[in-house]
Amino acid sequence: MSKQTLGLLGLGVMGRNLALNISDKGHTVIGHERDAALRGTARQAGLNVADTLDAFLTALPSPRVIWLMVTAGAAVDEVIASLLPQLSPGDLVIDGGNSDFHDTERRAKDLKEHRIGFLGIGVSGGEEGARHGPSLMIGGEQQGWETISNLVVSIAARARDGTACAAWLGEGGAGHFVKMTHNGIEYADMQLIAECWDLMRRGLGLDASGAAEIFKGWNEGPLASYLIEITSRVLTQLDPETSRPLVDLIADSAGEKGTGRWTATAALDLGVPAPTIAEAVMARAVSARLEEREYLSELLSKDLGRAVGLDVTTLERALLAAKIIAYAQGFALMDAGSRHYNWNLALDQVARVWRAGCIIRADFLDDVAVAFTEQTAPFNLMSAPGLADRLTEHLSDLRIVVAEAARAGIPIPALSSALAYHDGMTSARLPADLIQAQRDYFGAHTYRRTDRSGDFHTDWTGSE
Ligand code: 6PG
Repeated sequence: MSKQTLGLLGLGVMGRNLALNISDKGHTVIGHERDAALRGTARQAGLNVADTLDAFLTALPSPRVIWLMVTAGAAVDEVIASLLPQLSPGDLVIDGGNSDFHDTERRAKDLKEHRIGFLGIGVSGGEEGARHGPSLMIGGEQQGWETISNLVVSIAARARDGTACAAWLGEGGAGHFVKMTHNGIEYADMQLIAECWDLMRRGLGLDASGAAEIFKGWNEGPLASYLIEITSRVLTQLDPETSRPLVDLIADSAGEKGTGRWTATAALDLGVPAPTIAEAVMARAVSARLEEREYLSELLSKDLGRAVGLDVTTLERALLAAKIIAYAQGFALMDAGSRHYNWNLALDQVARVWRAGCIIRADFLDDVAVAFTEQTAPFNLMSAPGLADRLTEHLSDLRIVVAEAARAGIPIPALSSALAYHDGMTSARLPADLIQAQRDYFGAHTYRRTDRSGDFHTDWTGSE
């Protein structure tokens, strides 16, 4: 395999780990970073680091390949602006941050005018992934991908069948769109798991170590995944000072850096229902209103007792059903994004790239990959062979969990929105007939009929 020389700009923990991973695979990496302390840490880790941008650019053979690992947003534009006067046609810039795909589309167009290649690569797997094998979602011009594909494939995580979890997915912002959706699904997955923890704690009266055992068991079954595995580990962790479960001492107020919100926004923009992803984002916003929640809990306190009709097996099955439904929303969003932006995304390829290295890696993704490989891709993942049966089998469990949580006053926005999505998408007739009539009543927005084609308007007040 041909070895390459690559410049890595941004030597924070993700950049440094990625650089170490690349050099482990026999490629030459020259790093640069504005912060002198981070340059020092990278050198101590054994990396070749240039002190100035000029030295960095001079050290790179032409055509240059420069991989940016800087904070998404304005910093990426600043770095590109500082590089641009010194770049030459044929050079390739890669953005490996969690960039907004709209920005990636814009940057790709701008750089193309200068005849500079640009790839937006979604990198998932956190610090460990970057160091030992991330999942890599590549977007941009195919020519740029061909330049760098050997290197990228060499550093990626390997699925159980040995294939690299890295793929070129489409032009422009395709890679970052898929990474954004990965994160939206990550939000939904995490929220669904957190709701199960709440149901175990408040609904069933389990403590952290009891719940840890249950999640550990779930990780041996169809829910086996990185997020279930780390949930069990997190719940086992004790606080060294108090010896209490650490989770009980962590403030229940979650932050976010934008990618989940962007996924929900993209779904709204494209008119794709993705309520479980959106509810996961909203749930973080509810959690962040700590003071307000404390005040309201005093004022409007409710003690509805335990969820008596609940048990852990029902919960496990309900979680699997909700997970299938949440993934169906994410894949429907990618399908719509692909059509809208003409990316021609291969959804089986996306599922394959997510099988290892990334945060949502799970055995279940093997089935998702197969579902989209079938000659006729499913209309909706919920109907895919292999998944539809499991969903049908476990749906009654999801109904029990939603009903019991409602009775016990335990908020489960992700689980209940998954059920509502399922029930909405499997209803051939919904009450939007009334919505259309109301719109036509107050705004003459017209409506369509079931018995003939065309747009109709009624003088609703004429008969009053
Ligand atoms: C990954 C993660 C990574 C990061 C998220 C966290 O795929 O490795 O998704 O990108 O952990 O951005 O996002 P929030 O801070 O918004 O939860």
